[in-house]
Amino acid sequence: MTQIYSKILGTGRFLPERVLTNADLEQMVDTTDEWIQARTGIKRRHIAADDQTTADLAEAAARDAMAAAGAEPGDIDLIMVGTTTPDQVFPNVGCLVQERLGIHGCPAFGLEAACSGFIYGLSVADRFVANGTAKCALVIGAETLSRMTDWSDRTTCVLFGDGAGAVVLGPAEVPGVISCHLGADGRYQDLLYHPYGTSRKQRPEDTEGPFIQMRGNEIFKVAVKTLENIVDETLEANDLPREAIDWLVPHQANIRIIQATAKRLAMPMEKVVLTLEDHGNTSAASVPMALDTAVRDGRIQRGDLVLLEAFGGGLTWGSALIRY
Ligand code: UT7
Repeated sequence: MTQIYSKILGTGRFLPERVLTNADLEQMVDTTDEWIQARTGIKRRHIAADDQTTADLAEAAARDAMAAAGAEPGDIDLIMVGTTTPDQVFPNVGCLVQERLGIHGCPAFGLEAACSGFIYGLSVADRFVANGTAKCALVIGAETLSRMTDWSDRTTCVLFGDGAGAVVLGPAEVPGVISCHLGADGRYQDLLYHPYGTSRKQRPEDTEGPFIQMRGNEIFKVAVKTLENIVDETLEANDLPREAIDWLVPHQANIRIIQATAKRLAMPMEKVVLTLEDHGNTSAASVPMALDTAVRDGRIQRGDLVLLEAFGGGLTWGSALIRY
């Protein structure tokens, strides 16, 4: 029997219209444009309108990716949405997107792995396509992090933004998605988290507000180490030298974390796709938006070897090596 692989047929993204600059943040908290740029690399981020939800962003990115792939709603037979900011507890955002696209019956998942959500989703969808269960999968990373950001906390509010990115995956005779490597370690859960949910509600005695909580300095160090390890693991699993990688598409959390990963790959920064200056950290949306950016501006070409990686709350992490 012929081995089936999965391949990215098209990419898409959607950013809400409203832009919040570092100068805007200077008016809101005790910070400076200089500090934010020097410590993070971020200049501005997009923020969803009050009536815009994660499903709105996800739908727009999905339509963009489907148009690029030449896929019709009737072609889609699997929907995966990586998000930590779903519209509601259930139905999952995948079901909401499915209904808006006028598709009925195919499986639709929400997948919660914080910033690694898209790569976790890509890995699952790759398996569906590779074993013949799906022929045309929509994989989306979408977030409205602004809804769980404490806009009076300068240590977190300067970091996050909203957006969505998507890819359409289809079958191929040669690997498009070559290998995915996922990991998690719950021992580090206290470094980056949102304290409340449905089962664990905020109680009167709780001192933390219903916002993202982060021990930035500590997670920074774990991020650098973990990403170095996953880059090595991906190269070793595929018996590839570092020079083989054409493009690095990293999770856009902090320019200094990205520089450390590029250094591990001995890769010049011109070969690293950076969007954090304009997008901030959009969690699960960051990798697919960066991928789409470099595909559309012509940097990433068909046949290029691309390494995607992400790291986030959980802790979770993942990489995907793709031949675009
Ligand atoms: O997406 C998931 C993964 N995300 C991450 O892994 C994020 C990782 N962490 C980071 O990106 C960085 O740790 C931050 C950007 C969050 C912080 O940068 P840092 O260089 O680690 O700064 P710091 O937390 O060590 O703080 C240095 C100083 C502190 O002041 P003191 O104690 O030295 O007087 C902070 O209070 O900077 C201060 N500070 C700020 N100053 C101006 C913290 N936030 C701000 C701010 N503006 N927004």
